[in-house]
Amino acid sequence: METVLILGATSDIGFAIARKFASAGASVQLAGRKPEDLEPLQSDLAIRYGIPCGVYRFDVTDLSSHNAFYSALPVKPDITVCVVGYMKDNEKVIRDAAETNRTIATNFTGPVSILNIISADYAARKSGTIVGISSVAGLRGRQSNYIYGSSKAGFTAYLSGLRNRMYPEKVHVVSVLPGFVNTKMTAGLDLPALLTAEPDEVANAVYKAVRKKKNTIYVKWFWRWIMLVITSVPEKIFKKKKL
Ligand SMILES: NC(=O)c1ccc[n+]([C@@H]2O[C@H](COP(=O)([O-])OP(=O)(O)OC[C@H]3O[C@@H](n4cnc5c(N)ncnc54)[C@H](OP(=O)(O)O)[C@@H]3O)[C@@H](O)[C@H]2O)c1
Repeated sequence: METVLILGATSDIGFAIARKFASAGASVQLAGRKPEDLEPLQSDLAIRYGIPCGVYRFDVTDLSSHNAFYSALPVKPDITVCVVGYMKDNEKVIRDAAETNRTIATNFTGPVSILNIISADYAARKSGTIVGISSVAGLRGRQSNYIYGSSKAGFTAYLSGLRNRMYPEKVHVVSVLPGFVNTKMTAGLDLPALLTAEPDEVANAVYKAVRKKKNTIYVKWFWRWIMLVITSVPEKIFKKKKL
């Protein structure tokens, strides 16, 4: 039976991805910093789909715990999905060094640390799939969220380099760059309905991308073209815009 590890399983997107793989018969490992919040999902998945489902404590910013976390997993996963992320109001983040550091650590340094460990194991086993949930926000910095955006830009570049390095090891890496998604992270933001995906759409797209060995996906197809336009705007015009 295939085993899927979800790092950041308390997120709405993480929940949806766990359900999608469990419904397809995979065993699921739910990891998050509040294991008690994962227990209802654990029982639900185990009862509904009759699959083994474990819960593990994991803090992506606690880098020194990462080796022990991975070593302690009773079964090493075939697929790892890194969903963790952190986004707060950019104006508050830039005035608070701890918040700046937390944004970078949760979106970049932490995921890099744990995925370095997991990819080394996959390379030794000559198999495995890693999925990183990054964001279109990493494709061009905007004044309204450039700390989050730049940390996601780093993560996107990391995933691309990892895919390149892991290719000869038979390890596949999928980069997921969603546009807006209707979740706790964006609650209270006025998102345009037509451009916004639901967590289940992200989960379906991730599942398909893993099966078809896609490299980079945007979830809603038009985000690829929206971002092509946004990244093509000359900097002398872009820098004057209130974005
Ligand atoms: N929503 C969007 O519009 C959107 C768009 C593009 C990309 N994304 C990305 O999609 C992913 C999922 O986000 P979401 O929208 O589902 O938001 P979310 O519900 O806020 O999910 C964030 C997840 O990260 C976890 N996390 C935060 N700090 C952590 C830490 N130190 N250690 C371990 N886990 C930690 C959270 O756990 P706790 O429950 O413990 O806080 C939660 O599970 C993120 O990477 C986000 O950047 C979201």
